[in-house]
Amino acid sequence: MAEVDRVIAQRLDSGVPLVGEVARYIISAGGKRLRPVLLLLICGALGYTDKQRHNLAAVVEFIHTATLLHDDVVDESTLRRGRPTANESFGNPASVLVGDFLYSRAFQMMVDAESMRVMQTLADATNVIAEGEVLQLMNMHDASLDEEGYLRVIRSKTAKLFEASARLGAILAGSTASVEAACADYGQALGTAFQVIDDVLDYDGNTAEMGKNLGDDLREGKATLPLILAMQRGSEVQRQTIREAIETGSVDRLPDIVAIVRETGALEATRNAAASEAQRAIDAAMQLPDNAHRQAMLVLASQLLNRRT
Ligand code: IPE
Ligand code: IPE
Ligand code: MG
Ligand code: MG
Repeated sequence: MAEVDRVIAQRLDSGVPLVGEVARYIISAGGKRLRPVLLLLICGALGYTDKQRHNLAAVVEFIHTATLLHDDVVDESTLRRGRPTANESFGNPASVLVGDFLYSRAFQMMVDAESMRVMQTLADATNVIAEGEVLQLMNMHDASLDEEGYLRVIRSKTAKLFEASARLGAILAGSTASVEAACADYGQALGTAFQVIDDVLDYDGNTAEMGKNLGDDLREGKATLPLILAMQRGSEVQRQTIREAIETGSVDRLPDIVAIVRETGALEATRNAAASEAQRAIDAAMQLPDNAHRQAMLVLASQLLNRRT
């Protein structure tokens, strides 16, 4: 991971000072670097040690960072990684354009792997992420969104990059089609569980720990799984409270909504949904060779459910 950070720092170079300034602003704020971790763990599990893994790990982190720059503009978020978001500090235009810079830098870097499969995987993932964010935009303020519609969004906007990161490890290692599929399944399930927990934390988390504001999803009228399940389980009055909040995007009744998602057991049920995705990840990982890296993949899948950051 130290080597990945070195590649990241080196490839942020630009002759245009504002590019480096905005990019370094968000990247130096940290982040969990989970997608690079995933790629490196798979490489480790499959015995691939060439330095190309550091390059592609930096590529997936660049793509992730680009999506965050754009996502915070779209979501009008003001806090990320414990700091004012880039849009808050530099404005929307700089955030969008530096996001574009990071996407295109990632594409320059991935060419270095000289693999059509690598480029196909990343081109597809980037395209699907964009679709997922647009789909979510179309679903804004729609209180009738069901679990299936919700899953479609999160598989695209979040799980796809986890899936691609895992698949890249298998492609680099030259693994068989069935091992590659197991890696992709692991990444997809892990990424889905990760976003489901993110959506729980938007109601049940702590700003200081997360470095993001709570209630952003409600303010945007996002029908995430905690709300979908609370509407299924609640009384007519509770259902109406949630429906109105989604439709208006008002956070005035956020404390009431937090109480409803707790009382109806919707938060717990949402955590259970994440747990079953994590179990699917574990089942997929069990198809890989038994070694310390695979063990870390199993730990990652189970620990992710308890994440607070
Ligand atoms: C945030 O991702 C966006 C989601 C998919 C929920 P992370 O929680 O991985 O963000 P950082 O990189 O650790 O800040
Ligand atoms: C994830 O969705 C965003 C992307 C995958 C780009 P969220 O909107 O929930 O992510 P946060 O909460 O802003 O990090
Ligand atoms: Mg967001
Ligand atoms: Mg979120």
